[in-house]
Amino acid sequence: MTHALNDLAYHVIVFGCQMNKHDSERVCGMLEALGAYQVNSIEEADIVVFMTCCVREAADIRLYGQVASLKNVPLRTGSPLRKRIVAVGGCIGQRDGQELVEKLPHLDVVFGTHNLASLPTLLTSAVQQGGHQVEIAQSSTAFPTDLPTQREHSWSAWLPITIGCNNFCSYCIVPYVRGREKSRTLEDIAQEAQRYVNAGVSEITLLGQNVNSYGRDLYGEPRFAQVLKAVAETGVKRLRFATSHPKDLSDEVIQLFGELPSLMPALHLPVQSGSNRILEQMNRRYTREHYLELIRKVRAVRPDIALSTDIIVGFPGETEEDFQQTYDLVKEVGYSQVFTFIYSKREGTPAAKIEDDTPRSVIQERFDRLVDLVQAQAYEQNQKDQDAVVEVLVEGVSKRNENLLVGKSPKNQTVHAPIPDGCSIEELMGTYVKVKVQEARTWYLSGTLLD
Ligand code: SAH
Ligand code: SF4
Ligand code: F3S
Repeated sequence: MTHALNDLAYHVIVFGCQMNKHDSERVCGMLEALGAYQVNSIEEADIVVFMTCCVREAADIRLYGQVASLKNVPLRTGSPLRKRIVAVGGCIGQRDGQELVEKLPHLDVVFGTHNLASLPTLLTSAVQQGGHQVEIAQSSTAFPTDLPTQREHSWSAWLPITIGCNNFCSYCIVPYVRGREKSRTLEDIAQEAQRYVNAGVSEITLLGQNVNSYGRDLYGEPRFAQVLKAVAETGVKRLRFATSHPKDLSDEVIQLFGELPSLMPALHLPVQSGSNRILEQMNRRYTREHYLELIRKVRAVRPDIALSTDIIVGFPGETEEDFQQTYDLVKEVGYSQVFTFIYSKREGTPAAKIEDDTPRSVIQERFDRLVDLVQAQAYEQNQKDQDAVVEVLVEGVSKRNENLLVGKSPKNQTVHAPIPDGCSIEELMGTYVKVKVQEARTWYLSGTLLD
């Protein structure tokens, strides 16, 4: 008997972080295994799955709007269904559960971050019986990694080593929607990495909300350095990880940037603020001085490393002086990339209770000042690679010009180069090419291929 989802067209819309993107690959993997096939638009889809994010308010509002507007999109001609099935998963699914179907009655399925594996059953019930299918679990019983995956690129893989977060930064909703930190065993990780490498994957990115504390729950102490060594031993060409919390970045891990040739020279180390007073209120558990010392140590081991960070502007009670300290820290470090966010109040977090009367215009002006600095720095950092030869993993063609290939350098810079005559992008994708950089811009490098 064929499965109820067989031959149905599905479309997945993803918001948020890499964890969600990875979970979406699992969703695709499960649906493909049951005979459904992926399409690129809502119009063509019998099933639409939203993988949602609630880390900031903007994403939250957008989701409700998008789901509401789906009501007006007619089902494709030839669909075996009477009604399009709409499912919401991810972090808003986890947080709002039943409330979602009360606010959005045409929603069919709601699932959370802990029960991805239930999605096929919930969708099947929605197809066969109709009605609202809502299931939220309070914690994960199994690692989602046991589920099939459908990777975006055959040459690159995300590998979750932990799920959840124990840090409870005072502004952040993630620990409430992703649960407590859980590590996979070292053997499991090494085996999955080896499977990927054997299947032709050349780039692995280890994932976790705080990869540095990997293993604390399993082994009583962090063992992230061991994970890096074990995965490097699989022979993978490029190894990356995200995200690192400064309070747990150990000297042992820093040293590996000088020891493991496959560990790429790029480190994302979110600082959030440069003011000790604000860092304390954020419950980040490190100081500005400690952070700068980490940067010094990392650069001593790997002088060419590309550093990136996350910063929140406008945390409740942030003064001009606090902001200035953040600004100065950014100036001192010299980042290749900074993800800047305006503080967004998240109900249920401790920071949501802190009173703040700073006008929005003041926060916006600080934000704009910081963004100007960040852009100037990104440009300056990229100048270091003017005339350099960089090895590029080819990912596809430029959106603006199909004669240009686009790929990533070891430092994770975007690199453009003309596709040489007689070469097709299909044969180049997933391979490594050498590019001589002729132009270094703020957000990309461009050059020509060396043969
Ligand atoms: N676990 C990672 C990233 C979590 S979310 C880490 O700790 O670094 C990604 C980023 O979103 C955070 O680094 C933070 O800068 C930002 N963020 C989280 N909560 C936020 C909020 N309430 N308002 C604005 N930005 C927020
Ligand atoms: Fe959120 Fe902090 Fe955990 Fe990152 S470490 S996910 S910012 S609570
Ligand atoms: Fe967003 Fe959830 Fe990730 S809230 S940032 S998708 S963990």
